Amino acid sequence: METDLEKKIRAAIANPQNVGALEDADAMGTVGNSDCGEMLRLWVKFKEEHGRRVIDKATFQSFGCETAIAVASMATELIRGKTAAEALSLKTEDLSGALGPLPPMKIHCAQLVEGALRAALAPTATAAPTSAPTVTTASAPISSLVDSLHQDERKPRGVQVRILPRE
Ligand code: FES
Repeated sequence: METDLEKKIRAAIANPQNVGALEDADAMGTVGNSDCGEMLRLWVKFKEEHGRRVIDKATFQSFGCETAIAVASMATELIRGKTAAEALSLKTEDLSGALGPLPPMKIHCAQLVEGALRAALAPTATAAPTSAPTVTTASAPISSLVDSLHQDERKPRGVQVRILPRE
């Protein structure tokens, strides 16, 4: 039987908000979790509003963890209109928004989103989320997550990440 959380996640991923690269982004952060293999990239565009530099739009891409997609969808809506400092002050549970508390095995999915947000907005900050995901890119040229992984594959050395077809 489907739990309340599963229903909320299913509803969120049925119509995810802010998916895709943001071509004219001011900041970008990418994080990966080596345990589950998920990666998430988040783009942020700012605008001036009443003398404040606030987030105009944020978008994301991920490889498919449903919880991470649901949290990123909610978080990219939540941070709109906030300054970078205000967005950075949000905790993991804030970013999960209407999903409510996540079970222990799903908390790292929200932390992935938090890590990408921090990588985009404060790439040099030393403060890291509770279980810090690996920051792989903070200010690379705008590209899709899949494109950049394919670029990594063409490099003669380094870690190769391959996307396997579903069986
Ligand atoms: Fe690892 Fe969701 S299972 S990010």
